[in-house]
Amino acid sequence: MSKIGFLDSGIGGLTVLEEFCQSNNSKTAVNELSEIIYLADLKNLPYGEKTLERLTAILEENLKWFAQQNALMVVLACNTSSALLNEKIKQNFKQLYIFDLITALAEQIDREHKNLDKIAVFSTLATHQSGAYISNLQKVLPQAQIISIACPAFVPLIENHLTESDFSLEQINKLALGCLQEYTQNLPFEPSAIVFGCTHYPLLKMAFAQRFKNSLFLDPAQALAQQLQKYKFSDQTKFLSFSTAQAETFEAKLKALAKILNCVQYFSNQAQIAKTA
Ligand code: DGL
Repeated sequence: MSKIGFLDSGIGGLTVLEEFCQSNNSKTAVNELSEIIYLADLKNLPYGEKTLERLTAILEENLKWFAQQNALMVVLACNTSSALLNEKIKQNFKQLYIFDLITALAEQIDREHKNLDKIAVFSTLATHQSGAYISNLQKVLPQAQIISIACPAFVPLIENHLTESDFSLEQINKLALGCLQEYTQNLPFEPSAIVFGCTHYPLLKMAFAQRFKNSLFLDPAQALAQQLQKYKFSDQTKFLSFSTAQAETFEAKLKALAKILNCVQYFSNQAQIAKTA
């Protein structure tokens, strides 16, 4: 029996938890999870606009908190945090097994998509600036053309609209499509594959599908769910939600998402405040 943590700046990581839940429910689990802890770091949202130094300090604070909760594993359900994970951080948190989205996707591409030739990675500004996607994907696809596109408007667009009572995913996607058209005006090629390089973006799939009608969509969350295959949750597993600030706002966002993401319905608690450093 073990605890697993999921970390994001806000609600984006729930798209990763959703993939995990969809592929890993089991009544007869071998490695059964006792607790799934979701942490939304609303105090520091959005990550995408912060410096890589500041984000590294934030990541370490949050990992420390998960270690204090006696988590055995932590899923960086956030590409911006995944982009920052390095050997030094892993050494500092030896007691945690840390999973990240970027190496999970690179490994999946290496196994299953060796013939991809033109890839566009969409992400936050910080992930884009880190260069982590380009370097990890280039290692497994040395011949491919890979571009990275920062989409600074998307995370605020999603997080802000979710707190409105009459929120609609269609409306959010309509607004996102306008931004996406601007971001992709001068692409050097039409991509054969699109990477959702931010965990909020699967919620914008309608907009992406309208702009890129013939592309393959790669969600790193699916690759990561494969890595977690041997860990299962059951009726006995507790799902707990925490936020580093504004627990009520987070609770309202969870409510809004309950219609869209099944995993939200498993949370048994009111979102609690996590006292990170
Ligand atoms: N959802 C996160 C990611 O995958 C971070 C979004 C943000 O706070 O900017 O990068």
